[in-house]
Amino acid sequence: MILFKTIDALQKHLYNKKNNGISIGFVPTMGALHQGHLSLISMSKTKCAITVCSIFVNPTQFNDSKDFEKYPITIENDIRLLELAQCDVLFLPSANEIYPKGTALTTQYQLGYLETLLEGKFRPHHFQGVCQVVHTLLDIVTPDMLFLGQKDYQQCMVIQQLLVITGIKTQLMMAPTLRENSGLAMSSRNMRLNDVDKEKATVIYQSLKYIKQNCNDKLPSDLIATVTEQLLQNGFEKIDYVAICNANDLQPLTNIKSNLPRVALIAAFLNGVRLIDNLLLDDAS
Ligand code: PAF
Repeated sequence: MILFKTIDALQKHLYNKKNNGISIGFVPTMGALHQGHLSLISMSKTKCAITVCSIFVNPTQFNDSKDFEKYPITIENDIRLLELAQCDVLFLPSANEIYPKGTALTTQYQLGYLETLLEGKFRPHHFQGVCQVVHTLLDIVTPDMLFLGQKDYQQCMVIQQLLVITGIKTQLMMAPTLRENSGLAMSSRNMRLNDVDKEKATVIYQSLKYIKQNCNDKLPSDLIATVTEQLLQNGFEKIDYVAICNANDLQPLTNIKSNLPRVALIAAFLNGVRLIDNLLLDDAS
């Protein structure tokens, strides 16, 4: 694996490859890598000739500065994992490389209602920050394909919208969420949970499965009330949302039967750690 810290060096490396028609897959990350990230690398490797991974903890997408400060940084281990996964290129820029003129947003991305609900509602400006950095990274890497995880379902929708707004031709591929044996969705934030909390956190997945099992018989509002109570009784101190939405546009659903594809989404705090997860309700699995 070749490591680049500057845009210039990375682009020089990729330039000839692109001119020779070599396809480039891109996996943007904020580091603290786990098997979920590595599954994106491996998906990229099956579809593209070269895989570029970036590690950059983007300050502009954290609405809570404490969350930014506490974000786990495990760069040596990340490099080791990427080498084992046979990633071709790691882009590891400094904040100055990405934001030479400072972090102030210069573009307002027109995300419409997508940024007014769920993550957008509870993390104001978060998606503007995500778009800002992903737009910059896409301009630098100009990949053929971009790989993101379903765990950040709304983020995938936002970035799809970003591709439409900007006219960038990269194809977005969404990979399934990887889970621990306990069902807990893999996440860099899990590193901040102790073993007891990791066990408690499995209630999120159990709740999503409960919604899936009952969504054809019970009203969304009843399921949401039951699951909210279940999370609170199992040690979660704050629930940002439990939602059952149209999987195509994230509009909340109110009726039991629906011909629309459905997704259930949860965001909740356990011992100060904010965890999110989701489950497609009409999948066979
Ligand atoms: O999902 C993430 O890790 C981040 O939001 C991303 C896409 C790397 C942008 O900083």
